[in-house]
Amino acid sequence: MKLTALEVMQDAPVIPVIVLNDEAHAVPMAKALVAGGIRMLEVTMRTSVALACIRAIAKEVPQAIVGAGTVRSAQDAEAAAAVGAKFMVSPGYTRSVGHACKDMRIALLPGVATSSEIMLTQEDGFQQLKFFPAMQAGGPALLKAWGGPFTDVQFCPTGGVSLENAPQLLSLNNVVCVGGSWLTPAALMQQGNWAEITRMAKEACALPR
Ligand code: 3PG
Repeated sequence: MKLTALEVMQDAPVIPVIVLNDEAHAVPMAKALVAGGIRMLEVTMRTSVALACIRAIAKEVPQAIVGAGTVRSAQDAEAAAAVGAKFMVSPGYTRSVGHACKDMRIALLPGVATSSEIMLTQEDGFQQLKFFPAMQAGGPALLKAWGGPFTDVQFCPTGGVSLENAPQLLSLNNVVCVGGSWLTPAALMQQGNWAEITRMAKEACALPR
């Protein structure tokens, strides 16, 4: 494995979940986050330009480590890896996604929201998981409850996470980092307000954990 899932989670307190609608925003957005101290960038495969954006960041922003989010199939994972994604994040888990990432020796943070899903991902050798949609599915209370049976699992809660509720999540023993889209709002990217994205990245990096 070139980069481990734990390394992806440990780099900063927040993994930005990025939705890009314009390929021209990819490089300045990545540079703005890197300038604020965030290197692990999850570009979601939700838009038609996602692969082009991953390719552009991988090529033009060497300080960033770009990954693919919203990976929902083995084909998504293979396409993202082919353009330079260094890690994968999926909203849920399927064995085909898990096996594709293992075959490519690429780190995957599989998404879970139930105990059975945690057990399935553990069976397939995953210990670092995305908890999605975190705040909607049970938030800190569910994470605390999972800390009972699942002592060896580490989570990145994502979904409804904000600068305000992140500290409570990050204070939990089984949370290494959080994920969220709040660092890269569409309106700021549209305005080209990269300085504000850098400011928010710095603020996110200063979160205690
Ligand atoms: C994700 O895929 O992780 C979510 O879309 C991020 O959730 P948020 O937009 O509520 O931060």
